[in-house]
Amino acid sequence: MMHAHTHDHDTAHGHAHSSAEPMRDFSRSSWEERYQSRPAVWSGQPNQPLVDEIEHITEPGTALEVGCGEGADAVWLAGQGWLVTAVDLSRTALARATAHADEAGVAQHITFTDTDLTALLTAGETWNLVTSLYTHPEQGGRWLVETLAPAVAPGGMLLVVGHHPTDPHAADHPDLRDAAFDAADVADALSRDEWEVSATVRERTTRTADGHERLWRDAVLAARRHS
Ligand SMILES: C[S@@+](CC[C@H](N)C(=O)[O-])C[C@H]1O[C@@H](n2cnc3c(N)ncnc32)[C@H](O)[C@@H]1O
Repeated sequence: MMHAHTHDHDTAHGHAHSSAEPMRDFSRSSWEERYQSRPAVWSGQPNQPLVDEIEHITEPGTALEVGCGEGADAVWLAGQGWLVTAVDLSRTALARATAHADEAGVAQHITFTDTDLTALLTAGETWNLVTSLYTHPEQGGRWLVETLAPAVAPGGMLLVVGHHPTDPHAADHPDLRDAAFDAADVADALSRDEWEVSATVRERTTRTADGHERLWRDAVLAARRHS
């Protein structure tokens, strides 16, 4: 069990809801409780690192999104022409994501599922894009990269984004600090014979609803699998 801490874990969206429930760990039940504790956890806007990396891709294909939360990124991807499979641990989050996709008119382009990731990937299916933003699974960033890499089709792209350990928000919250990672470290899981890897720390600022500036330091791993 990770350290108990109440936090306002605003993601890249820069939302400003305050957390009623402490986030004790990153397990399925903990996420489910957190989503049930308030009507919306995230802002509904896509994450900027996703937009930055994917916007310019002119030939969208199939995409797997892991840790889709309330669906903002999946809806944005579907709007860009991707056919999306979106996975999350929380049924409450997935129900909101489904409603969000309906409202945006892209529900038929997204399959939402709470299937365990390992089980989902056993069949060996591959996608042209595999993304995971701020998922911070219990097993860690490296596990995530190792698990997702085989799901990327030849010529496809893997995008894994998380809080960098020097992110001020993560540094303030022991549970997030434990889950934060450096992209270059987790990129070690990828063979350079098979992958062209970009591992960076990206700094950006957002403004919260109450007008405060928030500095972000994101760990961004973007890797292209050779064809
Ligand atoms: C910090 S939230 C980020 C949600 C979304 N990607 C965003 O940026 O708004 C992390 C999400 O990952 C989900 N999650 C954590 N571990 C997971 C796992 N092993 N498989 C699928 N989803 C997971 C949680 O339920 C939660 O919705």
